[in-house]
Amino acid sequence: MLRSIIAGIGMYVPENIVTNNDLIKYMDTSDEWIQERTGIKERRFAHRTEETTTTMGVEAAKIAIERAGITPQDIDFIVFATLSPDYYFPGCGVLLQRALKMKEIGALDVRNQCSGFVYALSVADQFIKTGMYKNILVVGAEKHSFGLDFSTRGRNVSVIFGDGAGAVVLQPSANENRGILSTHLHSDGESAEILAMYNPGTHANHWADKNYAFFDDATIGEMFMSHSMIDHAQNFPFMDGPSVFKKAVVKFPEVIMEALQQNGYQPSDLNMLIPHQANLRIAQFVQQKLGLTDQQVYNNIQKYGNTTAASIPIALCEAWQDGKIKQGDLVCLAAFGSGFTWAGALLKW
Ligand code: ACO
Repeated sequence: MLRSIIAGIGMYVPENIVTNNDLIKYMDTSDEWIQERTGIKERRFAHRTEETTTTMGVEAAKIAIERAGITPQDIDFIVFATLSPDYYFPGCGVLLQRALKMKEIGALDVRNQCSGFVYALSVADQFIKTGMYKNILVVGAEKHSFGLDFSTRGRNVSVIFGDGAGAVVLQPSANENRGILSTHLHSDGESAEILAMYNPGTHANHWADKNYAFFDDATIGEMFMSHSMIDHAQNFPFMDGPSVFKKAVVKFPEVIMEALQQNGYQPSDLNMLIPHQANLRIAQFVQQKLGLTDQQVYNNIQKYGNTTAASIPIALCEAWQDGKIKQGDLVCLAAFGSGFTWAGALLKW
């Protein structure tokens, strides 16, 4: 049986560091509030015109490809996860294919927000296991700084997010003791509007009975994008933070236990848990609930904020670069986010 192994991993974060105190110039907030609620001290923001979600993905991909010992021309499939694409369409996958002068291979974009990278990894894993492809590039990248409301009105969302990218190259291995052991994908659309960016979109207020704040003006629903939407700041993400928190602390442990149990393991067997960097308080809650030690969980949200689809590959890459993940280690990736969707992957490094 073939298994997918991570043959190369890379990450890229923009140079520009934005501290909590820097945000005070734009909104009524404080370093204390942000650190206490989220654990975040600083995040990176991309160069406004010279960097995009794709260009950051390209930088991470170059490192992953080099570390896999191959060239961009050896890649035979791309899966690109993001919620902040360069264009509404086409997706970032084709822009990356062009930028890296790859062959005319397939390029698939995944729009699963915070769980996007684990979903993308799972898709790639199926193609490797069936023998269809031999070198799949999986990327998670975000340029959040371009699409957030940095006034006091949007502070509950905008202080949380940062920019960056991570990438892995998946290859087949006949060694059953290495690679991705299983992936687990879930969704519950009942709460789709709790963490969402409604506009621009084709909803035409169709889901207005869900009674979320962005549906208050009937005329807005008649348009894909209107002046009124911009005037009312309805082109920015909406988040009911406490509701997200409550669901996340249930679903994170659930999917981690599902992955462990399916493979005959328990939390104490884990060498490293890489949780999606949503909020340090969520990660700490999950750690406590599963009885994991500090050495078993890797967090870097303090430095980068929540980078959504990029957060897991960035954290995984950093943990590996720091020598915290070694060959043979049991590693769990787990994510939860908008949709709601949540996902887990268990692998032997
Ligand atoms: N600075 C200062 N005050 C703020 C800020 C800010 N940046 N944002 C909100 N506030 C104020 C609110 O206006 C409110 O004031 P009020 O009591 O006068 O009305 C007060 O702080 C409390 O607001 P809440 O939204 O209830 O704050 P809460 O304690 O729940 O913390 C937070 C908000 C951090 C978003 C929290 O709900 C949370 O972590 N939720 C999980 C969501 C999450 O992690 N999202 C990440 C993206 S989704 C994902 O990746 C899974």
